[in-house]
Amino acid sequence: MSTKIALVTGAASGLGLASATKLAQSGHHLCLVDIDAAGLEKAAQHIRNLGSEAVTFCADLGQAENCQEAINSAIEAFGQIDTLCNIAAVMLPARTTDMAQSAFETTLAVNLAAPFYLMQAALPHLIDAHGSIVNVASAVGISAQAYNAAYCATKAGLIQMTKSLAMEYIHEPIRINAVAPGGMMTPLARNMMNVENPDPGLLARTTPLRGLVEMDDVADMVAFLASEKARGHHGSCIVIDKGMCAG
Ligand SMILES: NC(=O)c1ccc[n+]([C@@H]2O[C@H](COP(=O)([O-])OP(=O)(O)OC[C@H]3O[C@@H](n4cnc5c(N)ncnc54)[C@H](O)[C@@H]3O)[C@@H](O)[C@H]2O)c1
Repeated sequence: MSTKIALVTGAASGLGLASATKLAQSGHHLCLVDIDAAGLEKAAQHIRNLGSEAVTFCADLGQAENCQEAINSAIEAFGQIDTLCNIAAVMLPARTTDMAQSAFETTLAVNLAAPFYLMQAALPHLIDAHGSIVNVASAVGISAQAYNAAYCATKAGLIQMTKSLAMEYIHEPIRINAVAPGGMMTPLARNMMNVENPDPGLLARTTPLRGLVEMDDVADMVAFLASEKARGHHGSCIVIDKGMCAG
């Protein structure tokens, strides 16, 4: 098995860490990117314990220039990138009239602008490597959730951005796909509890009737889409939500 290089954002926690783990287990070396320095170092040690090489790049991806630097750091360390996994995100739910401008702008910068700038910087390397991009969107980018307008908009935007790039690069040797998970128990998901006096009827509309999605199942899909086994997938958005978006 030839060693491949994956750059994973949001790798210090939750789905990013779980996906980096799956990628290491399938023979990748990792460039781990996150704003959380301590979490990133723990994640790197975990990946090294699995027998893969890991380098870290600690930065706020909400600053556009850091996205180019993140890609540069992977190229400097490994000389190539085979897979870019855009997993870092923030969710800052609020009633629309209460939402601070800074929270709205951060949500757009981290969840939508950063994946764009990372893809822009990585595309030449990924095409050279006949590689792949996996963008993590959300089921609420398809079936919207109250009190979460900015987050839902970024996730819907990321799905269309994935498809637009898939069309633009349809003649190039690269695959570009998205995953749209339903609710998973992570620090990000717990933020939903910060909304004051929400209407329970509205929250029930996106309550997962079959329970939360297992993070491991989503990480398996990220690793699958990154792999050559997913050669039939380009411009796909795979929903893993235990039926949440079905009706
Ligand atoms: N948890 C859920 O219910 C759920 C559902 C659907 C989709 N998702 C998506 O899954 C992905 C992973 O989220 P998670 O649930 O594992 O949450 P998480 O909070 O565990 O992980 C998010 C990671 O992103 C990093 N991050 C945040 N802001 C950053 C910044 N400015 N620069 C760099 N890194 C930054 C955090 O430090 C953290 O490590 C996200 O894209 C999220 O939108 C989550």
